[in-house]
Amino acid sequence: QSGFITLDRGFKNTGSTKSAITFLDGENGILRYRGYPIEQLAEKSTFLEVAYLLIYGELPSQPELDKFLQEIRIHTLVNEDMKKIFDGFPINAHPMGILSALVCSLTAFYPESVGDMNPEQEHLSIIRILAKMPTIAAWSYKNHMGHPVNYPKNRLDYCSNFLYMMFALPVEEYEVNPVIADAMNKLLILHADHEQNCSTSTVRLVGSSRASLYSSVSAGINALWGPLHGGANQEVIEMLESIKADGGNTNKYIEMAKNKASGFRLMGFGHRVYKNFDPRAKIIKKAADQVLTQLGIKDPVLDIAQQLEEAALHDEYFIERKLYPNVDFYSGIIYRALGIPTNMFTVMFALGRLPGWIAQWKEMRESKEPIGRPRQIYTGYTERNYLGIKERK
Ligand code: SDX
Repeated sequence: QSGFITLDRGFKNTGSTKSAITFLDGENGILRYRGYPIEQLAEKSTFLEVAYLLIYGELPSQPELDKFLQEIRIHTLVNEDMKKIFDGFPINAHPMGILSALVCSLTAFYPESVGDMNPEQEHLSIIRILAKMPTIAAWSYKNHMGHPVNYPKNRLDYCSNFLYMMFALPVEEYEVNPVIADAMNKLLILHADHEQNCSTSTVRLVGSSRASLYSSVSAGINALWGPLHGGANQEVIEMLESIKADGGNTNKYIEMAKNKASGFRLMGFGHRVYKNFDPRAKIIKKAADQVLTQLGIKDPVLDIAQQLEEAALHDEYFIERKLYPNVDFYSGIIYRALGIPTNMFTVMFALGRLPGWIAQWKEMRESKEPIGRPRQIYTGYTERNYLGIKERK
């Protein structure tokens, strides 16, 4: 404490806002979007219906949903000038870097999105970014592969359109596998919002200066990219691969994770809020089994993941710190089964989290939150006088 300021590093015990969007109970592993349990939404809903629920607060009627889908459908194209930006990236550019840059460039294409917009402009911003991000994401992958981009096909649903833009090649017909589209739909729903996590707090903070929705989301994409946050889903698969290459010796990695000096963490384990099983991890773990079976895929890293989970859940170090598998632990196994390359895993997380970022940004604007500007406890020099260069040591 210093004067009136309380220091709370990482905001572990600080509420930054009031919100009616997502309810999270870390002790009991509960997650609800606008009151609906994610278990029910993952089972019965579709990603764009959940996006509508998060952003507008209610499940849409059929006419409302039809209008929403139609509006998105007619905004899936990006300005052709964007291709010049894509072409500027080297072939080995990470898709997350391309995604954040191109999403931020939307502010340059639509400068009216900076400052306070009228309701029609705000609605158009929301539709545009929901419609264009899958196109930008798929094009980021094509840039990385050195393949020609695919333009969106508006007769396809959201997930099928993304898979088509990702994997279709001019040399052969591409048919979307409904099993893959369904699995993607479920994964996007499970990632859609998670109250005031690092990337969502970033979106709110940037948006609080009245920066555009696009710039705020671009900042969120960059925060999500960090290996401690959404970037963990790529790290998990790379960790499981190295355990497999190391003869499946899970105990060695458990011991390494317990030894701070190793600097190694069990990626996909632990959570700031969940001190019980992450409910999303439970659903994704079950879905991983189903999807691999439906696609007839045997992935040895799934067995390694299950062994690792088993070992950690019976180890004192993880038990006393309440470290359980989180959303990132099994999601990569499904993405891989769907043919999504590892460096696109966090892009998939961003696509899923987009409606949450939009909903939280919209709520922040509607509740007229002041510009975010925290204080600090100063630990630097007291006053001292300038020294000319000759007087310095
Ligand atoms: C996401 O916030 C959200 O909601 C995020 C998210 C979302 O939907 O938006 O749920 C998505 O980001 C999931 C988390 C993905 N990240 C990882 O899987 C990376 C590995 N996990 C850790 O880095 C860590 O658990 C965090 C970042 C998730 C949480 O960090 P905290 O809350 O700051 O906890 P901490 O670092 O203070 O750890 C507490 C203790 C420490 O040990 P002690 O100092 O008490 O001895 O647990 C240890 C840590 O060393 N610890 C781990 C560990 N995670 C925490 N030790 C080994 N392996 C781990 N994974």
